[in-house]
Amino acid sequence: MWRPLKGLAATDEITPVIDRTHPLEGGSDAISHVGEGHNRGTTVSTMWVVRPRCLHHEVGSRLAGDTSPGSQAAGLRETTMTWNKAIVTGASSGIGEALARRLARDGTHVVLVARTQSRLDALAEELGGSEQATVLVADLADHDDVEKVAALIDQDPHIDLVVNNAGFGVNGHVSEASPQSQLSMIDVNVRCLTRLSQAAAAVMAERGRGAILNISSVAGYAPSPEVAVYAATKSYVTSFSQALHSELGPKGVHVTCVAPGFTRTEFQDRADYDASNIPDFMWQSADEVAEIALDATAKNKGVVVPGLPNKLLVGAVKPLPSALQRRIAETF
Ligand SMILES: NC(=O)c1ccc[n+]([C@@H]2O[C@H](COP(=O)([O-])OP(=O)(O)OC[C@H]3O[C@@H](n4cnc5c(N)ncnc54)[C@H](OP(=O)(O)O)[C@@H]3O)[C@@H](O)[C@H]2O)c1
Repeated sequence: MWRPLKGLAATDEITPVIDRTHPLEGGSDAISHVGEGHNRGTTVSTMWVVRPRCLHHEVGSRLAGDTSPGSQAAGLRETTMTWNKAIVTGASSGIGEALARRLARDGTHVVLVARTQSRLDALAEELGGSEQATVLVADLADHDDVEKVAALIDQDPHIDLVVNNAGFGVNGHVSEASPQSQLSMIDVNVRCLTRLSQAAAAVMAERGRGAILNISSVAGYAPSPEVAVYAATKSYVTSFSQALHSELGPKGVHVTCVAPGFTRTEFQDRADYDASNIPDFMWQSADEVAEIALDATAKNKGVVVPGLPNKLLVGAVKPLPSALQRRIAETF
């Protein structure tokens, strides 16, 4: 049986037995590399995929003498996920910007989507100009703008990763907040995410490959007075993404939902949320969250809560009765 091979550091212990190149969309080549050798006293076979400017992790290993059909070198399947072109919504700031940087660093062309053109242009320039990044200005609360992004996903065959990250919160009682801000939140956090996930699901399922990464929140794990609509939108994102994960897994498409906790971005200021009483250990950087999110997507994890404090919090809150969940949510 093939299984993930962790910690294979010394590649010179591996003797290549098969090398082959195959063209990637966009004109460059990927090299699939299969080798056999010894790792910590065990004979293994391994395979890894090299793309320009990016070494992707080895796909699997097998123990010597394993002759099951799936373990034959000739039958190796490329199960790792590499991306040619990604759409990242909400790339002008915070987690989306960090995701775009990390993707560009790994050689993925990034389509940067948000409302603030000046920020997107500056980021695209920094990432390497039009070779590396494209700017698409869109207000994702606007249904026509969402359709433009959906059309791009539908028509550009190079897009093999769609990141639904754009989102915002509004702090305050439902009875006091503006109806427009509440409905815009649903439009961006839920409606747009659903439409773009659907557009990606349709084309990726047909191709038998691709990935969707949806950014949710730990707030989605409990009904949360003061951020009632925001928490409800994120419950939707987590539930929807998990169901999509099950639908698309057998079709070769990765779907991952990442539910961050407190992350140092512009989110709290924009939500008019006073986070000054949140202890330091509860915070993560946008870079940390982006790193965890993309690794989880490559591994096709269903749901990931980044950071130990957030994992413990979600693990403790999930089994509680709703009344207690609400009491806990009120303390934040
Ligand atoms: N930071 C946290 O503590 C935290 C925790 C859990 C989950 N999250 C989630 O993480 C995601 C990213 O947030 P962040 O923390 O990185 O916050 P952020 O720094 O405020 O970034 C939000 C991004 O969303 C974009 N956006 C907002 N409304 C938009 C609209 N109508 N149309 C297009 N783009 C829009 C913004 O771009 P423009 O303003 O330029 O349009 C910006 O790029 C959100 O889904 C959020 O719910 C954040």
